[in-house]
Amino acid sequence: MVLNVAVLISGGGSNLQALLAAAANPDYPARIVCVGADRDAAGLTHAQAAGIPTFTVRPRDFADRAAWGEAFAAQLRAFGMGNGAAPDSRWLVVSAGLMRVLPPAFVREFSPRLINTHPALLPLFPGAHAVADAVAAGATETGCTVHIIDSGVDTGPVLRQARVPILPGDDVATVHERIKQVERPLLVATVREIAEGTLELLSPHPAQQEKRN
Ligand code: GRF
Repeated sequence: MVLNVAVLISGGGSNLQALLAAAANPDYPARIVCVGADRDAAGLTHAQAAGIPTFTVRPRDFADRAAWGEAFAAQLRAFGMGNGAAPDSRWLVVSAGLMRVLPPAFVREFSPRLINTHPALLPLFPGAHAVADAVAAGATETGCTVHIIDSGVDTGPVLRQARVPILPGDDVATVHERIKQVERPLLVATVREIAEGTLELLSPHPAQQEKRN
């Protein structure tokens, strides 16, 4: 059974584009069913061009982060995810450049079927400025990480990583571009592994694990 994927973005959406291109191949075991954003993200046009439904939920329209998260979650439930999922359905939420910390109730509802791609080799350089931090630290290597989102910021279980060098004369833009060259195929391959069941998503929340056992 195919894996239904929602992708969450804030920016240009090149990782989204890579997932859309992969999912256009009937042999790919996942399909993108919706794309959500927290702002007028340029990447939404990739989804619209592919005829995939999009939604935008802006934090400024809500009293607080929790209320925004609940509205974001409600959109995903309408696509059969989280508390809106049928018991035997297969779904995954992918944060691919969503530049916002998801509130605790959202994480509890969707994790561990909630993953993120981050432009550093976690646990090194978490946070919103990962590439700049790696360059500023004088690192000679960085990379990207696909991980399960837990209640912290970029602290959830690591699923897959890829490395890239930082070369003399590099700046933040050249390093980020080099990272993205490996990040896109890594994300596509990781979603494939999850869809095929060769990569299992275990809950980082002990209480949920106990419920399952
Ligand atoms: C990616 O490098 C992702 O890891 C980071 O933001 C970037 C998004 O790129 N959080 P894009 O919008 O997919 O091109």
